Amino acid sequence: MRNYFLILLLAATAMSALSRPSAAETFPPITSQAVNKECGDCHMVYFAEMLPRRSWINIMKDLSNHFGEDASIDTKAKSEILTYLVNNASDVANNRAARKWRQGLGANPVTERIITAPRFIEKHDDSEFTAMWKKLGVKSKSDCVACHKEAQQGIFED
Ligand code: HEC
Ligand code: HEC
Repeated sequence: MRNYFLILLLAATAMSALSRPSAAETFPPITSQAVNKECGDCHMVYFAEMLPRRSWINIMKDLSNHFGEDASIDTKAKSEILTYLVNNASDVANNRAARKWRQGLGANPVTERIITAPRFIEKHDDSEFTAMWKKLGVKSKSDCVACHKEAQQGIFED
């Protein structure tokens, strides 16, 4: 009897997981220690798959003037970070996240912003986003964690 109850409980749990509205978009964990150490002080550590190679090269070119902040780091860490970001960029890596984020990039001018990437615009250009933005009083679109609680773990639910 006890086992029977347990089986029912497990079945119910499995079904509620299956009936979630849609699968979350996920990113593989960031495997560079340097990136995790140096790029998460002021905002979440962004995933390399969100921007193309050319954008990361541009961002890493001058960290002393990084969106109005001084984010300078030593040369060794810098080259390790650049290598990781470029190797895992949206137009270089071949996982599901990268394939999604490189769609529509075309020959767009270099952007240093994730919030101007075609994938970001496509997913946030709607009333659901605007409502959440107002309700939570979010200050920057790049504050992914404000709306996606598990963003740093690479999980973006819609
Ligand atoms: C000293 C603080 C600081 C550090 C350290 C820092 N950043 Fe930033 N970063 C900022 C600020 C400020 C912005 C602009 C945020 C905004 O407009 O909301 C930003 C924005 C960004 C954006 C654009 C996000 C968007 O779509 O608007 C990227 C990409 C980025 N940073 C990457 C990095 C990387 C890679 C590193 C590590 C090498 C790093 N950051 C370290 C302060 C920092
Ligand atoms: C003000 C709240 C808000 C902020 C800030 C925000 N998002 Fe979103 N995001 C949403 C909402 C709402 C949706 C669902 C939109 C839809 O599907 O119509 C969404 C959807 C997504 C999706 C698609 C999920 C799926 O399963 O299809 C991704 C990926 C995503 N956001 C990434 C980001 C990233 C990366 C950032 C930060 C650079 C960010 N979001 C910042 C509210 C936000």
